[in-house]
Amino acid sequence: MKNRLVFMMVLISALLLSDCTKDEPIEEYVVTPYELTTPYGFPELIIPGDNPMTVEGVELGRMLYYDPIIDGVNTRSCGSCHVQGNAFTSVENCLTHINLAWNNAFLWNGKIEGSLEDIMMFEVEEFFETDVSKLNSNSEYSKLFREAFGTAEITSKEVAFALAQFFRTLISSDSKFDQYQIGNATLTEAEARGLIIYFSEDGDCFHCHGTRLLTDNQFHNNGLDVSPENGRAEITGDPNDQGKFKTPTLRNIEYSGPYMHDGRYNTLEEVIDFYSEGLLWSPTIDPLMKKVDQGGLQLSPFQKQDLLVFLKTFSDETFVVNPEYSDPF
Ligand code: HEC
Ligand code: HEC
Repeated sequence: MKNRLVFMMVLISALLLSDCTKDEPIEEYVVTPYELTTPYGFPELIIPGDNPMTVEGVELGRMLYYDPIIDGVNTRSCGSCHVQGNAFTSVENCLTHINLAWNNAFLWNGKIEGSLEDIMMFEVEEFFETDVSKLNSNSEYSKLFREAFGTAEITSKEVAFALAQFFRTLISSDSKFDQYQIGNATLTEAEARGLIIYFSEDGDCFHCHGTRLLTDNQFHNNGLDVSPENGRAEITGDPNDQGKFKTPTLRNIEYSGPYMHDGRYNTLEEVIDFYSEGLLWSPTIDPLMKKVDQGGLQLSPFQKQDLLVFLKTFSDETFVVNPEYSDPF
């Protein structure tokens, strides 16, 4: 997955090209471009021109992700809540860090819109209130930031940019379902029946958890409550957005419980029971929750089992154990 094109790019200061800028510091640094390939069938990956992927930046982002030094308030690291083995989730309402490079609205209510750089700026400045002076007085980090960004002084921007580069590498594209789609794996009979439920009117899951990303990256009220929380309406102020939350990807869903924005379900069995007979009507419920009058899809115990085994074909073990994503300390 990580084909690295290792060719060197040397940025040479104007000093070397002109002879009369003697006061300027010599800003010379070498970065190694990090080649990210868009997996088969995924939408095109857009990388902002002002934050190109480099081996140095990705490695630095990974260190920062696991280092409590960036927490200005407590002593947490990103990795203390977002645990790799749980597909980068853990606490009750955590969101996964999978394929977020293809996302443009972050957090359950979509509070932050834009690029990974934008959400990382939020994480660094508002959530962690990172004290960059701690990084600036750390000689190892000073060196690593200089190597990755050529900067003498670390600001929250470089911290966010390094994290964003690391996040772009968190790609899951190697589940059994992916292998099946490219003709490298066959589904069991139960999995194949589950697939039909998922992609047909019987289950309708694909309308929201569709495409290779297994999410539409939109906001919906899937019928959890009679009086839903504000959700997306908290941000837009639009009463029609009441109870709408971000559709999470179902990639690695087996590993990322508990489920829903408030972690109300501990198991996938409970989630399936909810879609089958636990739907609750409220004014903003999504029109796709067609069978709400009957309480839900009314799946038989066999259909529930088939759907469950199919959901487990979204598990990508290479992702949850990939050493390139793990704690480097
Ligand atoms: C105390 C636990 C905790 C820590 C520590 C933590 N997070 Fe989170 N993170 C969460 C929770 C909970 C959510 C969902 C919150 C929400 O949507 O309101 C979340 C959501 C996110 C999202 C949004 C994902 C999406 O799909 O929209 C990103 C990105 C993220 N965290 C990155 C980070 C980074 C980077 C760090 C370290 C700087 C970090 N988190 C540290 C708990 C944590
Ligand atoms: C109308 C769009 C829509 C449809 C259709 C839909 N979902 Fe969801 N799904 C969502 C949204 C939105 C959430 C998050 C809701 C929340 O937490 O408030 C969600 C959450 C989930 C979760 C929990 C994810 C997590 O990380 O916590 C699972 C599992 C899930 N859905 C599976 C399914 C299955 C299986 C089907 C088909 C039977 C299905 N969904 C149909 C929109 C939908």
